[in-house]
Formats: sequence, structure tokens, C-alpha cells
Amino acid sequence: MLTLYFSGTGNSKYIARLFSRAVGARCTSIEADSDFEWAMNRYDTMAFCYPVYGSRVPRIMREFVAEHMDKLKGKKIIIFATQMMFSGDGARAFADLFKPGWVEIIYAEHFNMPNNICNTPMLRPPGRRKVLEYRRKAKVKMKRVCSDISRGIVRKRGFSQVAKRLGGIQGNAWPKIEERAKSDVRIHDDCIACNLCVKICPMKNLVNEDGVIKQLNNCTVCYRCVNRCPKQAITVFFHIRPKWQYKGMREILREGK
Ligand SMILES: Cc1cc2nc3c(=O)[nH]c(=O)nc-3n(C[C@H](O)[C@H](O)[C@H](O)COP(=O)(O)O)c2cc1C
Ligand code: SF4
Ligand code: SF4
Repeated sequence: MLTLYFSGTGNSKYIARLFSRAVGARCTSIEADSDFEWAMNRYDTMAFCYPVYGSRVPRIMREFVAEHMDKLKGKKIIIFATQMMFSGDGARAFADLFKPGWVEIIYAEHFNMPNNICNTPMLRPPGRRKVLEYRRKAKVKMKRVCSDISRGIVRKRGFSQVAKRLGGIQGNAWPKIEERAKSDVRIHDDCIACNLCVKICPMKNLVNEDGVIKQLNNCTVCYRCVNRCPKQAITVFFHIRPKWQYKGMREILREGK
């Protein structure tokens, strides 16, 4: 089995790896410099893991799927969507990327994980205790998922009419927000041009032009740069400066706060 994931800040990577370790799957980020065509030819069952944005699939993942659409024909697909709280049909949204009958969805599940939107006043930073709780619950859920899959049980989280309707409340508004966000990256005055954001942006959306960081209207709103900038000098879409940053579960657990 092959697991492919996109992860802005590490949560989806954690889930993808947890699953892959449990079932012995090969696990790769869609950002990797890999021969995906070769891998897709080799495996009949593929798991995809991503964070939900506004109950929908990140553009970077949608574009990856569109690029490899031919190779995905006839595959059995497992979907894992990570979210901070609720997406309604964030896992089902992945099925919308395919024509009816193109792939067979054999499992879909949501995983609640720490929030990575670090610059809205309503959302608190995830502390160590909370992170441990997310991790514990994710492990329990993954055990059930793996047991289901090994026994051929099909579960499709987010595929009910109720879930679809609830997901639609955010999901229908998301395409417009996403389109605006594409070019809505702000570099604030205290940027020190350290180039970290340029190096880590999965969309190559940031460039250093003569010591000034510029954006190329290709942001997928993954929040990686916002959470990593040493000066908290970059914001996307919401332009409130972050007071804290989410550097992933491992870092919070290592820091022991
Ligand atoms: C732009 C954006 C939109 C998001 N929308 C939702 C959402 O609709 N529902 C939700 O529960 N979490 C939402 N989240 C939170 C993330 O989905 C969640 O923290 C996810 O686990 C992050 O995964 P990653 O670390 O792999 O990037 C959103 C995050 C971002 C950056
Ligand atoms: S990571 Fe922050 S300080 Fe460094 S170049 Fe980017 S915006 Fe500037
Ligand atoms: S500019 Fe920042 S938020 Fe946008 S895709 Fe790049 S790293 Fe992600």
C-alpha cells in the first residue's frame, strides 16, 4: 500500500505515518522529489491524508491529484482528513476530485488534531496536555481504522447527507476565500529576510528579490510560514500578527510545556 500526504504543519504527516507504520505501507509527502508515476503503477490501494481547509481539500492536494488522475483510475482509495474540530464532510470532499466510478473509496475518516491557525484571537494555542490527548485519541482511532480495513469493513466518514449539508456551510464559501487568499500574503516590516519562509513554502510562493521577500500569488494557505517565521513577520489571509506559533506536536511534547 502507498500513503501520500500533504501536511502544512505536521498533523497530517503524523497521521499518515501512524497509519503507514501500522499497515506496513510506503509513506511519502506529495512535496517529495519522488517518482509518483512509478509508485502509483505499483500499488493498487492508496491512502491520501491532508488537512481540511474550510471543510475542503487543500489546493496543493487537488492539483497533485489532477496531475496524476490517469494513474489513479481503478485504485482503491483510503482517505484521512485532519481537522482541528469539525469539517462535516472534509473527508468526503476528496471524492469530489474524481468522476463517478474512477476510483473505489474503501475507507474515509476524520482525525481531530491540534489547531494550526495561530493568529485568530478566538483560538488558543494547543498545550502539552491537549496535544497528548489528541495523540492518544488518534492512536485509538487508528487502531480501529486498521482493524476495520484488515477485515474489509467499509466506513466512510463525512459521506452521509447530514455531514454533506453541515460541511457545505463552510465548504460552499471556501472556494472564494481560497481564491482571495492565493495572493493575500503580507510580509511585515520587521522581516529580517532570513529566507526560511522561501525555503519551506510548499508552493514556491515566496522569493527573495534583492533582500525583499515577495509573494507570487500562489499561496495554498497552509500556515507553515506563519507558524515558522522567527519574527512572526508573515501573515496569510488574516493579518493579525501571531502571538504564538504551532510548530507541530513533536516540538510541543519535546518542550514539555
Ligand atoms: C486555512 C485553514 C483552514 C482550516 N479549516 C478548518 C476547518 O474547516 N475545520 C477544522 O476543524 N479545522 C480547520 N483547520 C485546521 C487544520 O485543518 C488542522 O489544524 C490540521 O490538522 C492541520 O494539519 P497539518 O498540520 O497537517 O497542516 C484549518 C486550517 C487552516 C490553515
Ligand atoms: S521567515 Fe519571516 S523573517 Fe524570515 S524571510 Fe520569511 S518573513 Fe522574513
Ligand atoms: S506562503 Fe506560507 S501559507 Fe502560503 S503556501 Fe507558502 S508557506 Fe503556505
